This record gives sequence, structure tokens and C-alpha cells, in this order.
Amino acid sequence: MGASDEAARPRRWLRLLGRGLGVFLGVLLVLGVAVYAASARRLGRRFEVQGEALEIATGAEAIARGGRLARTRGCTDCHGQTAAGQTFLRAMPVMELRPSNLTPGGRTARWAGRDWTRAVRHCVRPDGSGIPFMPCLDYRGLDDRDLGEIVAWLRSLPPSANDPGASVLGPLGRVLFLKGDLPYLVAEQIDHSAPVAPAPPVGPTVAYGRYVAAGCTGCHGQGFSGGHIPGTPPDWPNAANLTPDPATGIAAMTEAQFEAAITQGRKRDGGAINPAYMPWQQFALLTADERRALWLFLRTVAPRPAGQR
Ligand code: HEC
Ligand code: HEC
Repeated sequence: MGASDEAARPRRWLRLLGRGLGVFLGVLLVLGVAVYAASARRLGRRFEVQGEALEIATGAEAIARGGRLARTRGCTDCHGQTAAGQTFLRAMPVMELRPSNLTPGGRTARWAGRDWTRAVRHCVRPDGSGIPFMPCLDYRGLDDRDLGEIVAWLRSLPPSANDPGASVLGPLGRVLFLKGDLPYLVAEQIDHSAPVAPAPPVGPTVAYGRYVAAGCTGCHGQGFSGGHIPGTPPDWPNAANLTPDPATGIAAMTEAQFEAAITQGRKRDGGAINPAYMPWQQFALLTADERRALWLFLRTVAPRPAGQR
């Protein structure tokens, strides 16, 4: 073997490696373009949804109640305390969520009642496009009175010119979305023709508790057994099991402990709940009737082991 062959060997390897890498990058590029195209097509879908007629409440009392509802039902967690919109979640390469400016300085200034029901109950904008990652499944049952008051409160706010921009689905988010592991386009999951039942009367009853508890299902699951909250980073704590399951649920919890958890963020084991994971500071604004109703309702939920959603 000559000296020139010795020198050529590494170069040959490098060439081969280079070609391999080229093929690999080429395949990646083609895959990337395919994922981008398929997700863009799905994201661009238009939903034909009329929305239900809604009378927007008026008067100081309705506005005050609407403000409390907007806080306790989660709107201000995402859209900001002044509802002027913000970047709520930076989780690239999965997604970045930028809930809109809902003050009279934003796009919704001239919206009619129907535009609001379409957005909040169906996750669809007036142009038919889907609203990403808002818990509209939880808001399906939000009744006319409550939603009308929330809108009254939003309309009473000082107009803000803030423009948070549109939410973005990142490259990894697109793969997860196509695989069905990221419920980004909520409108796809909603039965838009299902009628909205009127809410039960306000009071410390199981029925009213079931209504209020719709605001807990996005994190604690439709069956209230908790587990990983869909779409959140892997280092987030699991939502607690709120069913009366003896092993992992709240069967042994007292009403006082429940109150401490949702109004002071204090867990049974003495640990603190980080308000970034569960907005207990907002739940502290729930009325005594709402808290009692929640408690009574949760006692009636079918027991399930933790994490079955
Ligand atoms: C988990 C976060 C979250 C919660 C809770 C939430 N939203 Fe949103 N909302 C969003 C995101 C994200 C968007 C889409 C922003 C975008 O990318 O354009 C949005 C969009 C909207 C829009 C459409 C506005 C537009 O410019 O097209 C309305 C109306 C709206 N939200 C109202 C509400 C109301 C009312 C509540 C409470 C009942 C609420 N939202 C709760 C995240 C949230
Ligand atoms: C944005 C997500 C989110 C929402 C909405 C939410 N929770 Fe939670 N909740 C969590 C998480 C996460 C934990 C676990 C926190 C931890 O372990 O640090 C938790 C824990 C709890 C606990 C603590 C139990 C214990 O260990 O002592 C109770 C009780 C509870 N939630 C009740 C509720 C109720 C009632 C609602 C609706 C009114 C609600 N949660 C809404 C995320 C949420």
C-alpha cells in the first residue's frame, strides 16, 4: 500500500460521510416540506359555524359579575389580567401561544353576540378559521347569561392598542399535531351542531357544581382523574385526581382541605401549588356557593385511578 493511498483513505471516508449526510439532510428536507404542507392544509381549514345568538348584558352589576367570571373561568390567565393579549406560552419548537387583545381596542371591538359564541363555544373566528388551543371544549356549555356578562365586562375595559400577533405552531408541534398528539385546532374536536343547554340555577348544588367544574376539565380531564395535561411541557406536574378514588383520588380529603387547595394553593401534603400550573389565585374569587357546589359535585364523580383523564 503506497503513501498516497494512506492519505486518500480518510478523504474517501469523508466523501462517503458527506454523501450520506447529504442524503440524510435531503430526506429530512423532503419530510419537513411534507409535514409543513400537510399541517398547513389542515390548519387552513374553514369551519362553517353560525354560532348561537347572544344578548350582550348591560349594567354595572352584569359587568362586575362578568369580570369575576372572566377571572375564575380562565380568560384572563391566557389573555392577560387587562385582557389586552400577550404571549402566554413560549414552547418552541412545539408552539407559541399569543391570546388576542379582547379589549375594545382589538379586533373584537365590533363583534356581534354570534361572533362571541362562535369564538368561545366553537373556537371559530368570523372568517371560519380555527382558534388554536383555547379550551373551547370546556366552554361549550358556558351559558348565555355568563358569556353575555363576560363580553359586557370586556367591552367596558379601557381600549388597548396592544397586538400580541398570531400564535405559531412550530416544527415539532406540527409533527405532534399531525400524529394526533397535540389538540392545536380545537374546532376539529367539537360537535358544532350540539345544542347548548341553559345552565342550572346558581346555588350550592351538585348540578351547578357540574356546570362550574367544566372549567377544571381542561387540566383535570373529562373524567376528573388528572394526569399529564395535554400540550404542556413534560416537566409540568400532573393534574391531581379529583375523583373519590381511595388510592389516588380525594376520597379522604375534607372540604376544608379542598377549600385550601383551590383558594390558597395549599395541597393536602402541605406543598404549595404553583399558580403557573393551576390558577388558584383566580379560583380564590369563586363565590362560597360555587366552591360548595364544586365540592358537592366532585363527591358524586365516578372513582377512577389517577391519570385516566
Ligand atoms: C388556555 C388559554 C386560553 C384561555 C383560557 C382563553 N383563551 Fe381565548 N384565545 C387563546 C388563544 C391562544 C387564542 C388565539 C390567538 C391567535 O393566535 O390569534 C384565543 C382567541 C380568542 C378569541 C378570538 C379573538 C380574535 O382576535 O380572533 C376570543 C374572542 C377569545 N379568545 C375569547 C376568550 C374568552 C372570552 C375566554 C374565557 C371564557 C378565553 N378566550 C379563554 C387562548 C385562551
Ligand atoms: C391550568 C390547569 C388547571 C386547572 C384549570 C385546574 N387545575 Fe387543579 N391542579 C392542577 C395541577 C397541575 C395540580 C397539581 C399541582 C401540584 O401537584 O403541584 C392541581 C391540583 C389540584 C388540587 C390539589 C389536590 C391536592 O393534592 O391536595 C385540587 C383540589 C384541584 N387541583 C382542584 C381543581 C378544581 C376544583 C379546578 C376547577 C375549578 C381546578 N383544579 C382547575 C391544574 C389545574
